[in-house]
Amino acid sequence: MCRVIYLEDNDIVHMRKGEYTVYNWNDVDSASVEVRRTIQTLTMEVGQIMKGGYDHYMQKEIFEQAETIAQTMQGRIKATPLSPIKFGVPNVDRLLYPRVRLGGLVDFVSTIRRSRRIIFIGCGTSYHAALCSRQTMEELTQMPVVLELAGDILDRRCPIFRDDTCVFVSQSGETADTMRAMEYAKGSGALCVGITNTVGSAIARSSHCGIHINAGAEIGVASTKAYTSQIVAITMMAIVLADDQISKRKRINEIVDSLLELPDAIKKCLLLDDSIRSLAESLKGENSLLMFGRGRNYATAVEAALKVKEVSYMHSEGINAGEMKHGPLALVDEHMPIIVFATKDEMHGKMQGVIQQLMARNARLIIICNEDEIDILDMVGDRYPLIMVPNADEALQPVVNIIPLQLLSYHLTLLRGFNVDQPRNLAKSVTVTEE
Ligand code: M6R
Repeated sequence: MCRVIYLEDNDIVHMRKGEYTVYNWNDVDSASVEVRRTIQTLTMEVGQIMKGGYDHYMQKEIFEQAETIAQTMQGRIKATPLSPIKFGVPNVDRLLYPRVRLGGLVDFVSTIRRSRRIIFIGCGTSYHAALCSRQTMEELTQMPVVLELAGDILDRRCPIFRDDTCVFVSQSGETADTMRAMEYAKGSGALCVGITNTVGSAIARSSHCGIHINAGAEIGVASTKAYTSQIVAITMMAIVLADDQISKRKRINEIVDSLLELPDAIKKCLLLDDSIRSLAESLKGENSLLMFGRGRNYATAVEAALKVKEVSYMHSEGINAGEMKHGPLALVDEHMPIIVFATKDEMHGKMQGVIQQLMARNARLIIICNEDEIDILDMVGDRYPLIMVPNADEALQPVVNIIPLQLLSYHLTLLRGFNVDQPRNLAKSVTVTEE
């Protein structure tokens, strides 16, 4: 347990011999005023912030994702007679609704449903989580869903309206760009929803309502478990918003059943660790690594590339495979390693076409596909390494697909001799903005 005080904007703390005084300097021309800030107690277990037997925080955080995802769903999802009781909520009849309950949104669901648009706003990995979940949000709600980088929204002063819902996604809840974008959106009168991992953070406190992802403290600079829990949280939000539509119930049931199976799929995926380490051995001397994905797995490609570059310092780029012919194909030769996401979703056929085109150019491929894949196996034989991952509903397959890439970036970093938890030039929480 530790005791904290949260500082407000323009607060200054004067510390002397264990005593402290807080002043607020709202107006630089006037004398500062002493203010009281309540001391709060954080009930965080020491074990939660220790490495718990792992060598690095990043490794621990990758390996605890079966549990952290279960925590994100804990008490929020109802199982059905067809899916075993999990996460402490009793079975209900398959036709009884709602399947998902998010306490932090209950009073705001009808306002969000009436919005002109849902705008997701975030930076880095948190932005990628929104990019990954956008299609599910569109599919279930049939509402316009827009994505914005927090910094860019401010640069453009982009129009936001009072009937917009802005969803701010942030692991730390303290990212300056995201926070400033929220102030900007609030100024336009929009409803502000926070999706954060940090209770009491600035974004959690300043949003009108929100969802805590409950993934536990994330210490490694590279965000891993927060990403998968953010996707689960946004997926649950989409389900809540759509559960008044009878036409969506079959689809909601499919997604909920897959959510309940997700922790087991992740556990299975983590068993790939040794083979991913061998793959990292074969790639550790490369200068560049491309990731090709499409549909929801475009997000997997850009997130995987961000993980690789930020900790291993290897150049990596996530490419929308639909854009391949518009430039990236020029990079393809027999030397450039390319990871292709070709799991079974609505893009499966198109990704087979991508693989064929890359094979025709003698590309050096590494293919991520499902365990029960047949077509791709027939097509490539033993020409390329295949990373075979467990199946999930297409809305959630990216949560499974990112696991081997998190492991790859972890192993690449160690093999290249860098600090996996604290990469150079980066901070866990980016509390300053680019002026
Ligand atoms: O705390 P936030 O989620 O708001 O942080 C946003 C980004 O700074 C963060 O995701 C960053 O990109 C990570 N280092 C990526 O691993």
